[in-house]
Amino acid sequence: MRVLLLGSGGREHALAWKLAQSPRLGWLLSAPGNPGMAALGMVEPGLDILDPEAVARFARDRGVDLVVVGPEAPLVAGVADAVLAAGIPVFGPSAAAARLEASKAFTKALCDEAGIPTAAWARFDALAPALAHVRRCGAPIVVKADGLAAGKGVTVAATLAEAEAALEALFASPGAGVVIEECLAGEEVSFFVLAHGTDAVPLLAAQDHKRLGEGDTGPNTGGMGAYAPAAVFTPALAAETMERIIRPTLATMAARGTPFSGVLFAGLMLTAEGPKLVEYNVRFGDPECQALMLLLESDLLSLLHATATGHLAGAEVLWKPGKAIAVVVAARGYPGAPAAGGEISGLEGCGATVFHAGTRRERGRLVAAGGRVLTVGTHAPTLAQAAQQAYAAIERISFADACFRRDIGWRELAREAGGRSA
Ligand code: AMP
Ligand code: GLY
Repeated sequence: MRVLLLGSGGREHALAWKLAQSPRLGWLLSAPGNPGMAALGMVEPGLDILDPEAVARFARDRGVDLVVVGPEAPLVAGVADAVLAAGIPVFGPSAAAARLEASKAFTKALCDEAGIPTAAWARFDALAPALAHVRRCGAPIVVKADGLAAGKGVTVAATLAEAEAALEALFASPGAGVVIEECLAGEEVSFFVLAHGTDAVPLLAAQDHKRLGEGDTGPNTGGMGAYAPAAVFTPALAAETMERIIRPTLATMAARGTPFSGVLFAGLMLTAEGPKLVEYNVRFGDPECQALMLLLESDLLSLLHATATGHLAGAEVLWKPGKAIAVVVAARGYPGAPAAGGEISGLEGCGATVFHAGTRRERGRLVAAGGRVLTVGTHAPTLAQAAQQAYAAIERISFADACFRRDIGWRELAREAGGRSA
């Protein structure tokens, strides 16, 4: 099978790494790709992956059998629609189904319609009624931009003053819409499900670490590290989530004539009242995907093709035993203004699987060229072992501007340690 993979982050390098292991792969072409993906196949840095017609034409001209879309932006732009219209199977939902990620208000309304457990909410188009609403509800309260914000348009306000400041900042841009939500308490997990129409095959739950600083402090980022599987998400919670959240969502989308196809990423809060939906994404998580790919035993290409072509029924997904960790190495200054140009070396033989994100080749040297630069991943019988190996590998990598969290997986590490002493 000839595969075109869209994207250039650590998530896409991990997908490329796993696809490259498939006995069914003919060739892999990544666009725009990154230096890590270039080592696994061809790359086409010049393709505009946000231009649906350009992607469809390119895929047809190259005789591609499957297009795999990594990030959300091409999906929201309608790339999957154009590729399908060209008669080529595509892993990733239509623009209509990608609204599950693109519009928080869309998803909240769908939750209300289908009776899906989620935080109480209200949407506002103007500052004054939004301010009145948060003053009525009090803190803690959550303020979100209604649109794609790569996880960065959300303020979990501990005080009323913080909520008011967030609203004022959001309404400073013209045409803004805001969703205000009840603040949910509990542990958060990222749960992934392959779906086509109403067919659904659960993958695993991972836990991401969105804050920049250790102990979950500092600004929100795209994600600083993840591990999987998350033991806190028990088989019973997975079954409950499938019945109360995932299946009603898929059924409602299908009944509306906008069926979902691809990977549905449910951000869940495990509250005292059971799992509640925080948000949907219509793609794999980054860095959750890196941890998942390190654990996946089954053939990824077969799973993605079965999802794209509606042959998911009866699909079985096998996982390696143990735990995987994926630690993000960012450039100093991320998520604000990351330092660029720092040289990176020592990736070969560092003792981990290293996925590239913001890297570039410059006259033969590998240099940092983005916020999240690398993901360092390992897989071991326990999370403690995986973490020890990943951090030892990071020590062997030379990258002067590196910034990373040393406490990825802290909740699960505490559970593992507790389990041993019990
Ligand atoms: P989102 O972009 O909707 O995933 O929000 C980013 C992060 O903000 C989530 O991963 C949560 O950690 C937090 N968050 C979002 N909504 C809520 C909520 N209703 N209650 C508590 N935390 C939330
Ligand atoms: N790591 C969270 C996300 O990909 O949205």
